[in-house]
Amino acid sequence: MIDQSIIEDILKHADIVDVISSYINVIKKGRNYVAVCPFHDDKNPSMMISKEKQIFKCFVCGTGGNAITFIQKYENISFENAVKKLAELIGYKDARLNIKSTASKQEEANAPLYVTCEELTKFYMMTLLAKEGEEGKKYLTERFIDDEVIKQFRIGFCPNNPLISIKYLQAKNCTLKDIETIGVAGHSNGQYVDKNAGRVVFPLTDINGKVVGYSARKINNSDEAKYVNSPETPLFQKGNIIYNYANAKKTARLDGYCYLLEGFMDVIALYRAGVKSAVALMGTALTMQQVNLLKRLNVEIRLCLDSDNPGQMATLKAIELFDKSNVKYRIVRRSNGPKDADEILDKYGKENLIKWLNILIDKVQFAMNYFSRTNPLNTIDERKRFILDFLPFLKNVNSELELEEYIVNIAKITNFDRKVITNALEKYKKNNTHEENANITLDIHPERKALKRLQLTERMFVYQMLYSKKALEFYKDKDVPLSNEIFSKIASYIMEYYRNHENMTINDLINSVAQSGDKEKDVIVSSITELSFENRYPECSNDLLNELYSIIQKERAKEYDNFIFEESTKGKSDVEQLRILRERNIKKNAQLNKK
Ligand code: CTP
Ligand code: MN
Repeated sequence: MIDQSIIEDILKHADIVDVISSYINVIKKGRNYVAVCPFHDDKNPSMMISKEKQIFKCFVCGTGGNAITFIQKYENISFENAVKKLAELIGYKDARLNIKSTASKQEEANAPLYVTCEELTKFYMMTLLAKEGEEGKKYLTERFIDDEVIKQFRIGFCPNNPLISIKYLQAKNCTLKDIETIGVAGHSNGQYVDKNAGRVVFPLTDINGKVVGYSARKINNSDEAKYVNSPETPLFQKGNIIYNYANAKKTARLDGYCYLLEGFMDVIALYRAGVKSAVALMGTALTMQQVNLLKRLNVEIRLCLDSDNPGQMATLKAIELFDKSNVKYRIVRRSNGPKDADEILDKYGKENLIKWLNILIDKVQFAMNYFSRTNPLNTIDERKRFILDFLPFLKNVNSELELEEYIVNIAKITNFDRKVITNALEKYKKNNTHEENANITLDIHPERKALKRLQLTERMFVYQMLYSKKALEFYKDKDVPLSNEIFSKIASYIMEYYRNHENMTINDLINSVAQSGDKEKDVIVSSITELSFENRYPECSNDLLNELYSIIQKERAKEYDNFIFEESTKGKSDVEQLRILRERNIKKNAQLNKK
């Protein structure tokens, strides 16, 4: 357990706006900051960050918390590890942070799988350099991959005999179940066999550099698949892996850029040419998780997918996702020449590869090249299509000179008058403003509208407890009943906190909930942050507390009454229901008259 005083101290030194900015794009908006929420598929910035309160809250998906729980959620790690990450991020040093942290349940369950992957990687590497790996070594040498590169990327070879690696792992005390779970073992004739047998193996690592899967390349001209990849496993999900990410992370900030390529052979080619900040998608599918990872590098991403059609289509898709997430990027200009970086290096050498990597264009220039290459412009319809395809790219060009130049070029290519293009653009802009300019309306709380009077009152009461000890005393004193389970839990956590402390801040409370074993702690933290963003409630006073208490009591009596009525009429005929209702009204009136 990390000492609470350190946690408080770290939070004091950290600024939530800086912390969140190091992960995602944050925009200043009035007194607060907003961001596109990374915890749901957000289009507008729905996440609000308060510098003053040092908390964040998404008003669409409900996720909220402080700097620590943000990191915890974003990185999917335990609370303690998030505290350490935060300390690292702000350069906070304290020897007491070095204690081995308690892993989360998930981390604990995955630990032997990581060990199995690591052992297997070592085995493949050993094999490559041994007699059994000769063919693999020969293949790599033919592709100019030398020992230094082999070591850097931990390349290995899986023996032709598919039983050996499995036996080796068992000898290293890895269980068959774990070996199966990491995805390399297949069942054949009642035996476990390694699916990578006879292939050169490239380990795939997670964002921390730990091996989580493999891609194994064939080394002959057989018609087997070129690559055998790990299936989805608890450690390996293709959608959130980026080849060489952990290494590139170390150099990208110094370089100020990171190349994004299609295959790991291309990353290796760039490395051979001295460019270390390079990563690969391993295919052309780009997911939002990968976009977020790239964004976190906080440098210019240089898109360099293959020059074939799938590669260029994927570039268009990447442009769309990058724009949506505010990733800085440029595109390496492609021609109809060599397919990928690896080919360029082999055919034209290092200098030419570097030269070529440095011809960077923006998305409008890219679209200009791409559309004029792919659209035949013979018929009037095709020429129109070209312009229509182009409008989204022109929409956000801010510089008038630049826009003018593009329009002149498009006019030239399509043989349309410049005016036609300008008019089309104006029209397009008019029809497409609603989506992007839609303002965030933070006052709409979908759940809150539906809340009944009792809920609203309990909400205001718990809010008072967050900010005033007086409200807590009142709560204990009167034993105020809270019917909402989450509010009631918040109240208990507040009570618990004050049992050991004199004062409490929102962040203290969030930390204590986040560290509890409560199954609902996420919901509770979200609810606390939502409450603390409230700014229309009156300040705490005895009168206010009494009033809230009395409403709570009245509303509860009413609810109870309704409940009894519903119970007593369940399954009864209409006539009978009416009779009970009448009786109930007579009683009510009698009560009112008494008062
Ligand atoms: N890929 C794959 N399965 C295939 C083909 C490709 O998983 N059958 C993935 C691999 O991760 C590869 C990437 O897509 O790194 C790019 O594919 P491709 O361009 O075909 O591979 P190259 O990098 O050119 O590989 P090589 O030079 O060895 O042919
Ligand atoms: Mn290639």
